Amino acid sequence: MAAAANDMFSRKACVVITGASRGLGKSVAKIFASKFPSTSLFILLSRNVSNLDVVKSEILENNPNLTIAVKKFDQGNLDQTIYDTLFDSVFKEYNVTADDFEQSVIVHNAGTLGDNTKYASDLSDVQTVQANFDMNVSGMILLNSQFLKKFSNSSKGRSVVHISSLVAIQPVPSFSLYCTGKAARDMFFRVMAVENPSIRVLNYAPGPCETDMQRACREDTLDRTTRDMFQAMHTEGNTLDCDTSINKLVELLQQDQYDSGAHIDFFDDIGGHIAKAKLDS
Ligand SMILES: NC(=O)c1ccc[n+]([C@@H]2O[C@H](COP(=O)([O-])OP(=O)(O)OC[C@H]3O[C@@H](n4cnc5c(N)ncnc54)[C@H](OP(=O)(O)O)[C@@H]3O)[C@@H](O)[C@H]2O)c1
Repeated sequence: MAAAANDMFSRKACVVITGASRGLGKSVAKIFASKFPSTSLFILLSRNVSNLDVVKSEILENNPNLTIAVKKFDQGNLDQTIYDTLFDSVFKEYNVTADDFEQSVIVHNAGTLGDNTKYASDLSDVQTVQANFDMNVSGMILLNSQFLKKFSNSSKGRSVVHISSLVAIQPVPSFSLYCTGKAARDMFFRVMAVENPSIRVLNYAPGPCETDMQRACREDTLDRTTRDMFQAMHTEGNTLDCDTSINKLVELLQQDQYDSGAHIDFFDDIGGHIAKAKLDS
């Protein structure tokens, strides 16, 4: 399908991607880098800087003029100073300001399963439960606020993409922490979308993609039926390549027809969402 006239990929952007070191985040980084103007600035975040450096080098092979900042960032470390200074330090290092960009984009991709080796009734360890919500919910909210503070000009394009999951809307045995975190993230962004009509917000569920997390789903999941389901998906070849899913995300963003705050799954009929948005408008 053709891109919309205001295709976000045609405008110079500051693009922030969390969990860009591997899996879906790496795929977002590489594919987005090939789409945005080379005058854009990419900020790649995760705990593993060597992996981020590899992603950066791979991108630069094909897009040598792009500016890519890699920054060590642990979303589970809720130290106020880290959040307060993160974007300032990158902007200072690259000698840029928010005004240098036509738009800003953040992709909240970093995520963990929490603990898929236990049922909900056995989650008695304070540290495990707290770490799950620190990383998947609180840290993400705090980073998001810093991003919007940095890019506060509402007349410029601002897009927030949350890499969500089907589990945000479907309960799965052994996945109580993961499901709860994704549901909380989805709702957070739904609220943000109604509070800020000028920000384009998308909760994108990427489908089952071949990553470290997908392997942990089929190897570590306590619930037998759930584990069998993940194993069968893998052996029957029903998991997705990350790039396939992220190309669909690109298509959704290019078409720009989703309701802000919507939850859209890889397997959803994009045409259906466009039709609904038109009916509602
Ligand atoms: N794979 C799937 O089938 C699937 C399906 C639905 C939704 N999703 C969602 O897609 C997103 C990416 O998943 P994935 O499958 O690519 O997972 P993955 O392979 O496990 O990668 C997770 C990413 O998150 C980063 N991360 C983990 N803990 C972090 C922390 N404390 N601070 C900062 N970054 C952290 C990791 O980087 P470092 O280790 O370098 O920090 C890594 O880049 C997640 O939100 C996941 O819930 C995945």
